[in-house]
Amino acid sequence: MRIIAGSARGVRLVPVPSGVRPTSDRVREAVFNTLGQFFDGGEVLDLYAGTGALGIEALSRGFDGATFVEKNGQAARMVRENLARAGFPEKGEVLRGDVAEVLERLVIEERKFHLIFADPPYKIPPREIGGLLERLAALLTPDGRVVFESGDPTPVLTTESLKGASRRYGGTVVTFLERSEEHTMKLAICPGSFDPITVGHLDVIRRAASIYDHVVVAVGKNVKKGPKVSVEERARLIEKVAGPLENVSVEIIDGLLVEFARERGARVVVKGLRAGSDFESEFQQAQLNRRLYPEFETVFIMAAAEHSFLSSSAVREIASYGGDVRGLVPEEILDTVRRLYVDGQAAASDRG
Ligand code: PNS
Repeated sequence: MRIIAGSARGVRLVPVPSGVRPTSDRVREAVFNTLGQFFDGGEVLDLYAGTGALGIEALSRGFDGATFVEKNGQAARMVRENLARAGFPEKGEVLRGDVAEVLERLVIEERKFHLIFADPPYKIPPREIGGLLERLAALLTPDGRVVFESGDPTPVLTTESLKGASRRYGGTVVTFLERSEEHTMKLAICPGSFDPITVGHLDVIRRAASIYDHVVVAVGKNVKKGPKVSVEERARLIEKVAGPLENVSVEIIDGLLVEFARERGARVVVKGLRAGSDFESEFQQAQLNRRLYPEFETVFIMAAAEHSFLSSSAVREIASYGGDVRGLVPEEILDTVRRLYVDGQAAASDRG
């Protein structure tokens, strides 16, 4: 067996001991013809590694690092020897152990891989394959791929999170899997106190709606600052101005943002950033939210320059003295904001 292409092209791997069923050079070549010939970095996971030929081929073709999982001690030593022969001793990590247990640990460590090879024993019970694929889906980057080798008959290899297409090479069936559409539906949450919504908020909501399939504007009920107006009233004002946007809906959050997002299957939160001064608290919230929900990403949209001075607290203050907030809040809600936030009135509709 040899490395077929890339920086280690032509390197001979150690002779395969009996009992190990390596992916033949022909199948390995066909796999890379489908995946692409060369790569610009990324991490690869080679499960049931055997000789390690697939992972080492990926390193030779441009991947940055490879993690090999192999239960058999002799085979694990062979992977290390092959890594050394190919000149990648420090790019490969060999984890000796049971694949199910190692995968569990990698999921907990939140590891992500761009390419995963799985070449399990052909006699693996079909009922174990679903669980294995779900774990692989959790370890895969959004645009990552799984290459699954199996014998005949081909087990069912499509799950809720992964979909695939199979090709046959003699007695070997190779299935290429990627994330299914449901998991790439772009739903974003735009949370805030919106006390009240300003033209700056509306601009960020509109821009988020032009990027994502659907945006849920989530109005915090028990926000720290102690809102001046009830959550229902704040949500009604947003409905009035953002409701006409086709792919925007308004909801109330009465708990943690991450729980709200998880229940709706949303993995993106969009926040507006006006200046560096916003960054510190937003950064902290983003870090905490990601700790609570590791797949959750915070995306920032920069406020338009003409809104960089604008804040709900400034609107509240001006309105409380009966000042003019025209141009600061959307025209459709101008009268309601004046009435709700002018001193004396706000107290009457305080708390929800
Ligand atoms: O407009 P704001 O005041 O910056 O919005 C704050 C909001 C509503 C986004 C934040 O308070 C929030 O996410 N509240 C829900 C409760 C929660 O998840 N708290 C932990 C945030 S790290």
